[in-house]
Amino acid sequence: MINIWKPKIKVLEGLNFEYGELTLDYKYMSLDYKYIKFIEVERGLRIAIGSDHGGFHLKKAIKEYLDKENIVYEDFGTYNSESVDYPDYAEKVAIAVASGEYDKGILCCGTGIGVSIVANKIPGIRAALCNDTFSARAAREHNDANILTLGERVIGPGLAIDIVSTWLKAEFSGGRHARRVEKITAIEKRQLNK
Ligand code: RB5
Repeated sequence: MINIWKPKIKVLEGLNFEYGELTLDYKYMSLDYKYIKFIEVERGLRIAIGSDHGGFHLKKAIKEYLDKENIVYEDFGTYNSESVDYPDYAEKVAIAVASGEYDKGILCCGTGIGVSIVANKIPGIRAALCNDTFSARAAREHNDANILTLGERVIGPGLAIDIVSTWLKAEFSGGRHARRVEKITAIEKRQLNK
């Protein structure tokens, strides 16, 4: 008889076999026992990006930067500069990030305000509107912001790309900031359970 040992597989939300993010490694330990080991393979950063018409051109410039840096992203629309409603696109990106399928999100609209308001309605999202690199770094280090929002009518593409680059490179500092972020999560839970 062959005993099959299957360790509990920690399948992160959004990971699945089709994309080859888990590899199967068979190890035959003896004639009687077959060990099957699942190895979780670290996957690269994945960004969800979106905009309305007001942020469409800025999003295009950011996508060119991400392409140059070989950063994987998916564009959740809009795909042209025809007038649309920013909540539709902000919601899509925020849900994609909250689900764990994407690590971070970037949203653009005219001001960056509308998309940040919408994204922050989705549980688990901490969206930060940043018009400068200092705020972008602090948004990661202090607030563990998982979505960056930008306004095409507020800043130019050069500054926006510096902001994106700073935000992507900065890490959450933890420590006293972790306690504060936990309080944000606790507030969110209290409101959801009302
Ligand atoms: C669209 O005109 C504009 O209102 C939108 O892009 C954004 O700035 C909303 O906050």
